[in-house]
Amino acid sequence: MNSIYIYGTGSGARNYYDNYCQQYQVLGFIDSNANENSKPLYDLPVLPPAALTALDFDVVVLANEYAATFHTLRTLDIPLEKIKFVYYKCLLDVIHAESERHFRQYDNPELPLVAHTSMAMSYQGAAGLEAMYQSEYDYVRFKLLELLAEQVRQQNISGNLAEVGVFRGSFARVINALFPDRTLYLFDTFSGFNPTEREADIEQGYADAAFFVRSNNFLDTSVELVMQRMPHPEQCIPKVGFFPESLHGLEDKFALVSIDVDLYTPMYNAIEYFYPRLAAGGYLLLHDYNHAEFRGVKQAVADYETKHGRLAKVPVPDQGGTIVITRL
Ligand SMILES: C[S@@+](CC[C@H](N)C(=O)[O-])C[C@H]1O[C@@H](n2cnc3c(N)ncnc32)[C@H](O)[C@@H]1O
Repeated sequence: MNSIYIYGTGSGARNYYDNYCQQYQVLGFIDSNANENSKPLYDLPVLPPAALTALDFDVVVLANEYAATFHTLRTLDIPLEKIKFVYYKCLLDVIHAESERHFRQYDNPELPLVAHTSMAMSYQGAAGLEAMYQSEYDYVRFKLLELLAEQVRQQNISGNLAEVGVFRGSFARVINALFPDRTLYLFDTFSGFNPTEREADIEQGYADAAFFVRSNNFLDTSVELVMQRMPHPEQCIPKVGFFPESLHGLEDKFALVSIDVDLYTPMYNAIEYFYPRLAAGGYLLLHDYNHAEFRGVKQAVADYETKHGRLAKVPVPDQGGTIVITRL
């Protein structure tokens, strides 16, 4: 980051200028209300956002608290890697707006929006990837995946990949993007829960019947839709049907596996299959472990540990309450 424009002309922008004008070449300020009569600030031009499209610069620093400034830049096709947030409120508002868009697009509009606690400090990440997951609703979960993938590569952990519980492929497509050179098994019925497993969780008090109505039982998907969303579909093998029957005798070794099935029985079965096949240094991501709504997940882990011994578990503060399990 060498040459920058500072988006804002208020106290935040001035503070930023005062602190960083020695470090970066500040080319000018951007103000949503600027026009040809706008007075310079610190002897630098104050320009409207649209002027940026014809200018050469490395980064626009959002030194203001308004998410609308981010959306203005995106409407002007300013690339994500050229946008830097310095104020937390602006960033959280952007994430919240994206979250709302996600819920409205994919989920029941009646679902109450969850307040965001995501602590995303910047949009600088693996090239192109952040764009894939910032449109989803759980930044911490996606960032975790990216960092674990980095570990797998840096530590030369061998093995393939899998997700059990793919639904529309929102998480799986990022796994696929992060590992273009490895096979990714996509396990799902692609037609919702096993009714016996679902009823068992309701009966045991692990899940509430209302959830299954609200999620429409995850019926709104198909293998074709998921495969279309995969950046490297040639590496993906759909495994259609109820897990574990859908394994059909599969034998492989795994570097990273996401298990996101919401219910006790498929969670237990998936840990039982994948943990012994996990490479040393590999990762299992168990979604919803600390989620108040899917109480069977934690019970499945506890029962597995009672039978097979303690697992190395690391809880993650994403929205699902994921737990990461690794193996030495
Ligand atoms: C919460 S959704 C998965 C969401 C997805 N991982 C994501 O992040 O976008 C849960 C999925 O688990 C699948 N599922 C639940 N039990 C299953 C079983 N026994 N076999 C296969 N798929 C199952 C459901 O069909 C549903 O699509």
